[in-house]
Amino acid sequence: MRRIGVVATAAAIGLALTACSGGGDGGGDGDGGDGGGDGGTDVEVFTWWAAGSELTGLEALEAVFAEQHPDLTFVNGAVAGGAGSAAKDLLQTRLQAGDPPDTFQAHAGAELTDYIAAGQLEDVSDLYTEFGLTDVFPQDLIDLLTVDGSIYSVPSNIHRSNVVWANPTVLESAGIDPTAVPADIDAWIADLEAVQATGVTALSVATTWTQVNLLETVLMADLGADGYVGLWNGDTDWASADVTTALEHFETLMSFTNTDRDGLDWPEATQMVIDGTAAYNVMGDWAVAAFEEQGVERGAGFVDFPVPGSEGQFGFLADSFTLPVGAPNPDGATAWLETVGSLEGQVAFNQAKGSIPARTDADPADFSEYQQSAIESYANDAIVPSLAHGAAAPIAVLNAISDATSKFTTGGSDLATYQEELAAAVG
Ligand code: GAL
Repeated sequence: MRRIGVVATAAAIGLALTACSGGGDGGGDGDGGDGGGDGGTDVEVFTWWAAGSELTGLEALEAVFAEQHPDLTFVNGAVAGGAGSAAKDLLQTRLQAGDPPDTFQAHAGAELTDYIAAGQLEDVSDLYTEFGLTDVFPQDLIDLLTVDGSIYSVPSNIHRSNVVWANPTVLESAGIDPTAVPADIDAWIADLEAVQATGVTALSVATTWTQVNLLETVLMADLGADGYVGLWNGDTDWASADVTTALEHFETLMSFTNTDRDGLDWPEATQMVIDGTAAYNVMGDWAVAAFEEQGVERGAGFVDFPVPGSEGQFGFLADSFTLPVGAPNPDGATAWLETVGSLEGQVAFNQAKGSIPARTDADPADFSEYQQSAIESYANDAIVPSLAHGAAAPIAVLNAISDATSKFTTGGSDLATYQEELAAAVG
């Protein structure tokens, strides 16, 4: 199991200041020169941060880019659909057609390894030296971006996947103390029953990927960190009784959810908690940006806690940006990577996005109370890789698990078949 510390060091801060000092004076471009290549001044940035608080986060990064590289033009290539549910397929089509964007979002871990193995990414190790990034990211995160000694992307942030968001007013109406965190999934189910008895949706969820996000957190809760990690390294048997118990819990949790779920994406499911039409939502901590953007305060307006039973685990995922082979404007993409890796870029982006900086030299005091709790959890808890967000398994495995999950939650398979299909998906 990986342990990643978040420790600011004087050396790292010094490097950060040096690396960022180029800023708006046109410096810091290395020998390439912004927009000096054949690609002109446009830089197409491909993400799935197309709307709402995710777009706000991207715009915060875009603003720093405009400041640091005023001679370049940010072109928003975002494709809507949470977790890249539509973007990743479209990206693959473009990459295979030899029509890559200048840079694209990819998750650290197995997902990134897919692109590397397909020969779709340039080695950006030299940029780490040029921009002084080598020592400012946790080594274990860099390891997830590295294959055979070469680094293939620059991380922008770290998110946590195993968080419950709840509406305290709704909980109180059901006789539940919002400050009391259920000890495990069974205790939580008792609370869900109490909410359901009041006629409010107990647990909101959305389309398939959010159901997979819920599934991974139940597996974390029921199997523990070692057991969960074992699902991905072969040490835990997918056919085991422990996995059956977790799947039964997942089935029960899904029975408390809104029936229109398959037509929704995460913002609508989280909005139900904000609006008080649902008590709980399990979502990665990009959700906190939705609460904050609407002025809903932690404590009075929402409460958050790790999925019951998964306390002490940090469901890890990180977004990163790449330099695709054949990018039309590699110099422009390089400038974008400089902004993504810069302290200023990471602070502005993560303040808006709800995630925590990947850089270890950011000051926790610049972030919200929730984010400070995430920084602490990241420093102290067991880091376990997210399935739904590319850290744990290759894209093909995630796709197979998603198909099996969708089939199960729409009534197309029973639990035994579901478990067999999950085992077959991981192989
Ligand atoms: C994740 C991504 C996050 C957030 C989320 C919802 O895969 O890493 O940054 O955007 O999807 O769309």
